[in-house]
Amino acid sequence: MSLYAVEATNIVRTFGDDNFRALDNVTLRVPMGEVFGLLGPNGSGKTTMIRILSTVLSPTEGVATVAGFDVVKHPDDVRVNIGLAGQFAAVDDNLTGFENLRMVGLLNHMDKARVVRRARELLEEFGIADFGNRLARTYSGGMRRRLDLAAALVANPPILFLDEPTTGLDPQSRQDLWNIIESLVEGGTTVLLTTQYLEEADRLCKQLVVLDHGKIIAEGTSAELKSQLGNTVLVLTFATTSESEKAVSLIADLSTKPANHEGLVVELTVDNGPAAAADALRRIDGAHLVLTGLQLREPSLDDVFLSLTGHKAEEPAVLDGAPQGRRSRRKVQA
Ligand SMILES: Nc1ncnc2c1ncn2[C@@H]1O[C@H](COP(=O)(O)OP(=O)(O)O)[C@@H](O)[C@H]1O
Ligand SMILES: [Mg+2]
Repeated sequence: MSLYAVEATNIVRTFGDDNFRALDNVTLRVPMGEVFGLLGPNGSGKTTMIRILSTVLSPTEGVATVAGFDVVKHPDDVRVNIGLAGQFAAVDDNLTGFENLRMVGLLNHMDKARVVRRARELLEEFGIADFGNRLARTYSGGMRRRLDLAAALVANPPILFLDEPTTGLDPQSRQDLWNIIESLVEGGTTVLLTTQYLEEADRLCKQLVVLDHGKIIAEGTSAELKSQLGNTVLVLTFATTSESEKAVSLIADLSTKPANHEGLVVELTVDNGPAAAADALRRIDGAHLVLTGLQLREPSLDDVFLSLTGHKAEEPAVLDGAPQGRRSRRKVQA
């Protein structure tokens, strides 16, 4: 087996007559035994990558191996090594939770007694044992997602692909899934997870790749990504938007990065927080602007994404000429 659970090199995938590039030269190396994140907004190519790695779709260019097997040349070997679960739970509504898991086991040619044992064990582990004999259509969103994940684990695959496993879930169900994913990885499973939630990537992923429009725009640990930005974010809140607008030009030169301006709030990433804050206060005072709040905080992955792309990860990319989202932030050039 290769050193990596997943190794994908220069993957290109095009669609349609105009050869639209859903993936444009993406290279990933997922070490065994950790959670690796593929982070990006809607339409950035996450599912396309997962479909290539799970042998559903072939790459237009490039080579990928999973568990050491080439996804194009040895798809059957790849399939026995992976489990796949995602945003659109592949659960059969007209079967019970138990029957769903049993069906997956039988499709995987597991023997009957083992399937029953494994199904019961998973229902227990995922907190749905009491509902095992109820039809899946009666399950809540969180329960369905857990059942779907359980189904991906029936055959004990060493590598798990999770495509936006928590999208659309309430905060408690999301927490529950995070805990389950963490305990899977403690048990030795490798997880490749896609998400548009920066908080999720920060919490779960050791390393991540950030995708935008099919291209990798950043990669590393979340700490590395954040440190590219500077050490501190200076957050200034003003009484009126006209004052916050004026402040942007007053303080822009305190940072090498453009200020981020939304409504009453101006944010600036700086290396020396206290010195920049003192400087900013002097200038703001000198210009007789009224400040209603001042805060220094650590950069988040949100700040990283915004600074790299000019748009947030959790909203669709804004196409040229399309109307700006009501709540979207503008990136203000210094
Ligand atoms: N089968 C397909 N035919 C045409 N375009 C596709 C197909 N699958 C995906 N795309 C396009 O490729 C881009 C990436 O899609 P996808 O991988 O689903 O992104 P994500 O999962 O990050 O939201 C999108 O613009 C999408 O419309
Ligand atoms: Mg997707």
